[in-house]
Amino acid sequence: MQPDNDGSPRRSAAWFGLDGKLGFVHRSKMYNQGYSASMFDGRPVIGICNSWSDLAPCNAHLRQVAEAVKRGVLMAGGVPLEFPTISLGETLMRPSAMLFRNLMSMDVEETLRANPLDGVVLLGGCDKTVPAQLMGALSADLPAVMVTGGPMLNGKFRGCDAGSGTHVWQFSEEVRAGRMSKEDFSIAEACLSRSAGHCTTMGTASTMACLTEALGLSLPGSAAIPAVDAQRHRIAEQAGGRVVEMVEEGLTPSSILDRRSFENAIRVNAAIGGSTNAVVHLLAIAGRAEVDLALDDFDTLAGQIPLLVDLLPSGRFLMEEFAYAGGVPAVIKELGDLLHTDAATVTGRCLGDNCADARNWGPEVIRSRAEPLREAGSHTAVLRGNLAPDGAVIKVSAASGELMRHSGTALVFDTIEEYHDQADSPGLPVEASTVLVVRNAGPSGYPGMPEIGNLAIPKKLLDAGVRDMVRITDGRMSGTSYGTVVLHVAPEAAAGGPLALLRTGDTVTLDVPGRRIDMDVPEDELRRRAAELAPADDTGSGYAWLYRKHVRQADTGADFDFLKGRRGHAVPRRHL
Ligand code: FES
Ligand code: MG
Repeated sequence: MQPDNDGSPRRSAAWFGLDGKLGFVHRSKMYNQGYSASMFDGRPVIGICNSWSDLAPCNAHLRQVAEAVKRGVLMAGGVPLEFPTISLGETLMRPSAMLFRNLMSMDVEETLRANPLDGVVLLGGCDKTVPAQLMGALSADLPAVMVTGGPMLNGKFRGCDAGSGTHVWQFSEEVRAGRMSKEDFSIAEACLSRSAGHCTTMGTASTMACLTEALGLSLPGSAAIPAVDAQRHRIAEQAGGRVVEMVEEGLTPSSILDRRSFENAIRVNAAIGGSTNAVVHLLAIAGRAEVDLALDDFDTLAGQIPLLVDLLPSGRFLMEEFAYAGGVPAVIKELGDLLHTDAATVTGRCLGDNCADARNWGPEVIRSRAEPLREAGSHTAVLRGNLAPDGAVIKVSAASGELMRHSGTALVFDTIEEYHDQADSPGLPVEASTVLVVRNAGPSGYPGMPEIGNLAIPKKLLDAGVRDMVRITDGRMSGTSYGTVVLHVAPEAAAGGPLALLRTGDTVTLDVPGRRIDMDVPEDELRRRAAELAPADDTGSGYAWLYRKHVRQADTGADFDFLKGRRGHAVPRRHL
């Protein structure tokens, strides 16, 4: 049995280092995989937590990536043991992959704690898989390195680059407006997905990969490398080797992450034009890491940061260009003293040292602070008011400047289905100034807080040339979307939030500079409407029932109330 650097025996020794019948059983059954005795002589046992799945196409190549991680673990003297978890494919899962993020985090946490593991490499990619793995691994607090799967190669359609999500929304509006044929729309399907990997825009997957790097939980430069680039396999190999060293050093996530790490992530999110979903995920991740983080931090901290990265949906380019320009290290170097460069990372060095030699090879893609794509204050605004007492968010860089202060008449839909049924109706009572509202799309209302926020513009307005209007929801929107959309309204309608009291015809005022979102309805009228609301229905069974019962609101990350915090990796009891 080899001790860790603090003198305590390695965790895996409580399985493989035992004498007697329990040690016999632990080792004996592992021999059926062809391992020899030297595999269990006390070397670090490294889990490879793999969210590979054919049902999660963004993660479908992760079995090959795992082979590179294994090589790295073996070369560094560790034992790699790969295991699957549930996986969450954004495009296929219904009603919403978000419904299962917390479930996946439980799978990761409990599998790590229940097994003879000393450290872990997390393999994720698609939107919810990365936060779910981080949440689980932080609660278990074993030495951990994240390797993300990398983006696909740029989509190519009719001689132009086309990005995941963003161009789908654009093309579908073009078809509705009669400017693109259905045949071309169908041809574009394959053109947008040319290789293994996750979405090519700065959507949620790319954002979370970049923010994992900014948090210090993945190797420098790893986020942006295309999935099919050999460099991704080299970095996976390095991650396997590094986690073996981290076990020796006793370098756990709790010894890496603190408030500085999360402030860095929020600031990098603003500089890259990252997804609004990062707000919900970072709040949940901070909750697991026992770091105080509040919704308002996203406004305050992001407010100091200019938009530097010119990627869709806020800009022009795709992840491939971002990788070739230098990726996250080049952004971190450019942000310089706007970040806590002394924050710890998985390399054992601080964030600033990791990026000291970074170069910006694509100044058009990664702008300088002197010539940013947009000035500071253009990213996330947190709004409050009598429509969202606990807060709501708007991505300013994806919204229209002329709608930042807007009053309009509300047109309210209780479900997204109701909106879809009516959106193309010529008789829909809607004008360009109307404020479209879809509620009951929050964490418990839907359930699972789906990405419905970027409601398609009603057909009659689209035909009249309207391309943006104010929309409000207690749901989320895809990180690849754009538009003037107020999201994550808390408390949600289904939890008795005042959004439930809004009625068609009420005046709603959005004031982004003033950070307000209000309905012009007298207090006594709101009280009267509240008394008429039906009580929440908490009947049911199964996972969706558990979710509705325990999910917290968006302003704290939509994690389960009973999952907050670290539960560590003490060896559970077992006797024969
Ligand atoms: Fe998986 Fe976009 S659908 S990353
Ligand atoms: Mg997405």
